[in-house]
Amino acid sequence: MRIAGYLERCQALSAALALVMVVAAGACATVTINEPSFAPPATAARTVPLGQAPSALQERQARHRTFISEGIPVEYVNRTNPLPPTQAETDAGGRLYSARCAGCHGVLGTGDGEFGRDLTLPPAVLAAMVDQPYSVDQYLFWSISEGGLRSGSQMPAYKSALTSREIWQVVQYMRAGFPPVEADSG
Ligand code: HEC
Repeated sequence: MRIAGYLERCQALSAALALVMVVAAGACATVTINEPSFAPPATAARTVPLGQAPSALQERQARHRTFISEGIPVEYVNRTNPLPPTQAETDAGGRLYSARCAGCHGVLGTGDGEFGRDLTLPPAVLAAMVDQPYSVDQYLFWSISEGGLRSGSQMPAYKSALTSREIWQVVQYMRAGFPPVEADSG
């Protein structure tokens, strides 16, 4: 009799213990799920005015389609930015960007430069495109070097006007989020 009673209590205890463990496991799982799993990119807060016609957007995608389906000339394949990630390179890129690109693409890369307004195909919103998964180094280097040669747009080709290093400096500046440009100190 006494032993039976003891066993009964034992069973009740282990049942209670099992319940506690299930609840505890549940609590742990909840904690893991609630933990933030990512930090938003620094550029996420920047607002990019839209306002481009959908047809222009579609035409613009011709460049992305070419890149994906036809590929790019062999001299651009797998090119990556060889520059050290220094402020000096970014600043140099900023000066080049204001002089050569901002007139069409806008100071902040929002596609609203003065000379871009009259173009048939509006200048790309670089601030938004630079964060896209397809905007790998070789894509940017090819786009800036060859311009609209293949897509027929008025985007100039810079492969003769700028050196490779200068093109990479501009890429670096765009990737840095179009920070304000200091005047050249020397
Ligand atoms: C005369 C105006 C003009 C100037 C100046 C200009 N662009 Fe463009 N750019 C365009 C237009 C229009 C497009 C969209 C059509 C296209 O992709 O060819 C474009 C597209 C691009 C793209 C491709 C964007 C995408 O969505 O794939 C990149 C990158 C780019 N420009 C970078 C630059 C840089 C960097 C400079 C300066 C060195 C520059 N552009 C100067 C007009 C210009």
